[in-house]
Amino acid sequence: MTQENQEIKLPAPRLDGDFSLEKAMQMRRSVREYSPEAITLEELSQLLWACQGISGSVSFQNEGKTVTIDLRTAPSAGALYPLEVFVVVSRVEGLEAGIYHYQPGSKDTSHSLIRIQSGDKGYELSQAALGQDCIKNAAVSFVMGAYVERTSVKYGERAEQYVFIEAGHAGQNICLQAQAFDIGTVTVGAFHEDKIAKLLGTDAKPVYMICCGKKKQ
Ligand SMILES: Cc1cc2nc3c(=O)[nH]c(=O)nc-3n(C[C@H](O)[C@H](O)[C@H](O)COP(=O)(O)O)c2cc1C
Repeated sequence: MTQENQEIKLPAPRLDGDFSLEKAMQMRRSVREYSPEAITLEELSQLLWACQGISGSVSFQNEGKTVTIDLRTAPSAGALYPLEVFVVVSRVEGLEAGIYHYQPGSKDTSHSLIRIQSGDKGYELSQAALGQDCIKNAAVSFVMGAYVERTSVKYGERAEQYVFIEAGHAGQNICLQAQAFDIGTVTVGAFHEDKIAKLLGTDAKPVYMICCGKKKQ
């Protein structure tokens, strides 16, 4: 039964593969048309991990106490992690269509998704992005939202620039990981921030989108 705020545990990411990074970089191209096939939950899980998953931790002393910070697959200025990742799911095996918010977890807990809306919202998402067909037809679209204030606490006016740079790092990770699965991606910057934020029900600033789907044969 559909439940908002329901947590869905994701399969653990795999940390090895047989598709070379060099091949992924050579073969990556923007793909805007997709087959009607679904992607698997394992593939979605891996793409989310590639984007913002936990990949380590660091401990340090602060005022006599040990503080541990989890680190992610993409670099972040000051390890302040301003990005929040949402997925607008249309076709993923074993996952109801809807909008989900990624929870990277921690080095001790698994990553997961929180369902924030049920139903296929691909069309609405495309309407907030100049009606682009790649969004309407995607199996999944990733939306990166940013809380710039997490970074401006330390970096002031440089923060906005840093946030965009970070979204680029995270986006490229998705594109290369997807290429290894022969999943097509296109990165999307042309959208109305306010409309996307409203659809997602977030006050994070939408900064980047990536559409994904199985390639047409
Ligand atoms: C910041 C940024 C924004 C982009 N926005 C869009 C977009 O809104 N719609 C789209 O179809 N492609 C978009 N693209 C994809 C580019 O058109 C594409 O990367 C470029 O044509 C080069 O082709 P390639 O990705 O196949 O190498 C964007 C790329 C970047 C880096």
